[in-house]
Order: sequence, then C-alpha cells, then structure tokens
Amino acid sequence: MDYILKYKSVRQKTLDLSDHLNEEDMVVQPIEDVSPTKWHLGHTTWFFETFILLPHKKDFELFNANYPFLFNSYYESAGERILRATRGNLTQPYLNEIIRYREYIDSHMLEFLNSSAFKDEYQYMVEVGLNHEQQHQELLLTDIKYVLGHNPLFPTYQKNIIQINDFIKDESFSEIKEGVYFVGHQNDGFCYDNELGIHQIYLQSFKIRNSLITNREYLEFMNDGGYQKFHFWLSEGWDWVNKNNIQAPLYWNFSNKEWVYYTLNGLRPIDLDAPVSHISYFEADAFASWKGMRLPTEFEWEVAVKEIHKTIPENANFLDKNILMPVPAYKNNQLYGDVWEWTASSYLPYPYYKKADGALGEYNGKFMINQMVLRGGSVATPVSHIRSSYRNFFQTNKRWQFTGIRLVDYL
Ligand SMILES: [Fe+2]
Repeated sequence: MDYILKYKSVRQKTLDLSDHLNEEDMVVQPIEDVSPTKWHLGHTTWFFETFILLPHKKDFELFNANYPFLFNSYYESAGERILRATRGNLTQPYLNEIIRYREYIDSHMLEFLNSSAFKDEYQYMVEVGLNHEQQHQELLLTDIKYVLGHNPLFPTYQKNIIQINDFIKDESFSEIKEGVYFVGHQNDGFCYDNELGIHQIYLQSFKIRNSLITNREYLEFMNDGGYQKFHFWLSEGWDWVNKNNIQAPLYWNFSNKEWVYYTLNGLRPIDLDAPVSHISYFEADAFASWKGMRLPTEFEWEVAVKEIHKTIPENANFLDKNILMPVPAYKNNQLYGDVWEWTASSYLPYPYYKKADGALGEYNGKFMINQMVLRGGSVATPVSHIRSSYRNFFQTNKRWQFTGIRLVDYL
C-alpha cells in the first residue's frame, strides 16, 4: 500500500477504536502499565511531530509547547516528560483539544508527504511511526479492557459475539527435523531493527503442538491444584503467585459456582474450547511443567511457522476481524492471531544487532533485559503489523495483553 494511504488508514483506525468510548472512559489509569485512551491519542501524534515534522519540515511549529512534555513516553533523546504513572492525571487537555492536535499534525504530515521536500530517507521513520501507532492500537484495546474489566459493572466495549461451531479439536503435534535454519526478517517489507541480521541457528528435532492450550485444559491444571503446588513453578513465579494471591488467569471471576471472564464483549461464561489468554510467563511455564512439556524457544516457533505457513492464513483472528476475543480454532492452528504466544527465549539482541543512533536506538534496544519474547500476534494486532519474524516482548509477570500457550514436546 502507498504509504500516504497507509498513513490515513492507520490514523483513522485509532480514532475508530476510541469511538466506542465516552470521555470518562478515556482518562483512567488504574495501574501504571495501563495508559488512558486520551494519552494514546496524543502520544502517537507526538511521535510524528517530534521525529518527522520538527526535524525535517521547514517552518513547522509545535501545536502546543507543553505537549512534548505530556506525550513523550520514554525517549531520553526527546527530552523531559511526565512520570508514566501520572498519565491518568491528564483530565486536561480535553479530548477535543487532543483531537485538534491530531488534525493539526495530520494536515502537516499529509502536506509534507505529498511535497518535494519529503526525501526517501525519511520514509523509514514514517513507517516506524505507523507501526508504532499500530502497536498503540493494540495497547489502547488491552488498556481499555483493563479499565472496563475492573469496573464493577463490567461494561462492554462492543457487542460482537461470534459463535464458532465447526472448530477443530486437534491435540496433535508437527515434527520439525533437526538441522541448521535461518531466522530473522528475510523479505523486503518493513521490519523493526530487532528482527534484522538473518543468521543461522541449529535446532534439535522437536514437535510443536498444532493448537493453542484451551481454557478447558487450563482449568484442568487449576483443578489439579496447579496454583497450589510449588513444584510446577519457577521460584520467582511461586513468589508472584503467593504475594498476589493468584488463582486464575486475569479477568476470570468465580461467580455462582462457575467461572466467568470479562471480555471486550462483556462478562461471559468461559468458552472452554477457546485458547486460554491473559496469563503471565510464570503461568505459561508452570502449565508446561504440569503437562510434562515445555514452551518453544522463539527460534523453534519461527522455524515452525515458516515450515507450516507460507503466508498468514485468511481466517487468522486479528484485529481486522473485529472479534476482539480469542475463539476456538476455526480450520486454523492459530500460530498467527488469537493470542501472543510466550516463548522460552529471553529478549536479547541478534548476533549482528547494532543499536541505532537517536530515537530508533531507544525504540527496541534499550529494552533487551529481563523480558521474554512472544510471537504470532493477537486479536488486538492489526494483520498488516505482524510477520513470522516479529518479536514482541514483556516482563514475566505481565498479563494484561492477550497472551497464551503453545507447547513443545520432547522427542
Ligand atoms: Fe509509544
């Protein structure tokens, strides 16, 4: 797609996602991880203002001199900013001012993209800005899910229940032969710097499951005392379980003798055939240990997905499908979509990785510590944002993203 068209459609999509909400919904920050919708709307706009317009567009003037301080997230190279935990204090600027900010930046961006002053060398940063905005679309949804899912009334974000009846129940495994494989981004399209540097890795033979772990299987783990038996857990995970009194995935509530869970479609009985979601790395690892199996490394996952799929399946459950909840496997092994799959790999630089100068160097490189890699994208990921080499990353105790489990068995 032409990047001017892409610019318009990505920017519009963010507004479409926030259209479901009232202004009161858009201000709350219940925990530090969860940013208010209003802040996402401002921050994604600030990115284009700061990294494209200000340095490159002649005579460009800031929309408001205070906004960089409000909407810078973590870029040391872009100056001072509010503390992350205080984003929810922004009752002002009001939503209509933030919308005017978006319009101001969009008109400057479109004028600039269409002008002869726009050089090819700026294009990559525009692509980063659009991919950055798509990442925030996912965050906007997972953050608002946290806000609404912790409201005692459990309001719906939207009503769009999809009933999948002819799903596949497949607990089989695909075997991948031992050998030397290439990993990393291998085509011409956009990728982040953390995927670059195609390199070879050696894998022992392994078999990877053709489906995600379902809520039914996870409930078996819970009913078997999974959260009460220390020997399934990593030491840090066991501490986390006990300190936080964790007894089930996030959003699960035990009510009237049955488990229900909050979804963006409201509070619902657990769909036992849908993939388990909103679990931490600790829980994924404990489940694997209970099963006598393990999580795949990010390399095993990438090699398997490339062997199994040449392209992303049409029916993969991404944001574009607008289902907004993981569903039972519909003629699809769900390697792509539904939930981000925890891998057993630490988020580390690839062998040829070099941290870029400036803002780009702060985008991925500085987070390569104490986080685990997740693969495959979720119901909240735009399909045009994902690829086989994409590396997402979160800390081991985080579970407000759509995160789930795929297992690898020993041979
Ligand atoms: Fe950001």
